[in-house]
Amino acid sequence: MKIILAPMEGVVDHTMRELLTMSGQYDLCVTEFVRVVDQVYKPPFFHRICPELRQGGKTRSGTPVRVQLLGQHPGWMAENAAAAAALGSPGIDLNFGCPAKTVNRHRGGAVLLQEPETLYQIVKAVRDAVPKTSEVSVKMRLGYENTDLAVDCARAIESAGADMLTIHARTKIEGYRPPAHWHLIHDIRQQVSLPIVANGDIWSRADAKRCREVSGCDDIMIGRGALCLPNLVDVIRKDAAAMTWPEVCDLLIIYASFRRDAHGRGYLPSRIKQWFSYLKRQYPEALPAFEKIKRLQQLDEITAMIRLCS
Ligand SMILES: Cc1cc2nc3c(=O)[nH]c(=O)nc-3n(C[C@H](O)[C@H](O)[C@H](O)COP(=O)(O)O)c2cc1C
Repeated sequence: MKIILAPMEGVVDHTMRELLTMSGQYDLCVTEFVRVVDQVYKPPFFHRICPELRQGGKTRSGTPVRVQLLGQHPGWMAENAAAAAALGSPGIDLNFGCPAKTVNRHRGGAVLLQEPETLYQIVKAVRDAVPKTSEVSVKMRLGYENTDLAVDCARAIESAGADMLTIHARTKIEGYRPPAHWHLIHDIRQQVSLPIVANGDIWSRADAKRCREVSGCDDIMIGRGALCLPNLVDVIRKDAAAMTWPEVCDLLIIYASFRRDAHGRGYLPSRIKQWFSYLKRQYPEALPAFEKIKRLQQLDEITAMIRLCS
């Protein structure tokens, strides 16, 4: 079983990837999406999105981190893919699942699930632009408004030469509303032969087991669940005990110090507060702790309060 840490724009940045891959054994991470319109990004841009490129495309604990691109023009996508691969990204991931209105309005993300031929052109251009040894993976939803074209999309992606396809088991209009339709991943799997990774609403070991049974997939991707329970990956893989609240507090403190190290000049209290909104789902202690830090702005104050709450 492979377990992949989901890309999450504005949430799973490189410090979060460091922390989560330190807390459990992932097979792969995917960066937040890089929006490709009509230019080829220069190395400093890719290094900012994926600082791991400076250390062989891996987190400090050795998990590969793949750059994700989002865009609609095969040519620009191909050139950016080639640039990221040349900088050492271990493969390229393509985002055809983003539901954001502004992105969709400009023909990026999930809206392209209405155009299997365009998916084919993009995946093919990227496949041809990167070395054969570089994996090209794709992430899609079940569709835009409905699931009618799901199989056509998967077939287009496969015939364009993708090596792996992750399916977030909802349409665009379903947003993040439960349930995820794992059984529809199973139906798609019957029609294609490339490796499929199941994604959506895996919050526990039991969910992972059921998702794998229902979808028929060996491999899974976890996103929000990994933020709610920071060692979810090891809970799933090794039946490890859930991380305790004091252990989570230690992680929060390391997270704060990582941010200071990475940026030198500062730290974003909003990111740590944002993480509490996920932790609340798993830990009853998170809500009262959040109440105590929510108005604090200084790193040292926040860290001291987290220590007190641990
Ligand atoms: C805040 C947020 C940001 C996301 N950003 C991305 C992204 O940059 N690229 C992408 O392919 N998916 C993105 N996703 C979708 C997730 O990767 C994942 O498919 C989705 O959350 C379902 O998985 P989960 O139930 O395990 O969270 C994002 C989801 C959330 C909630």
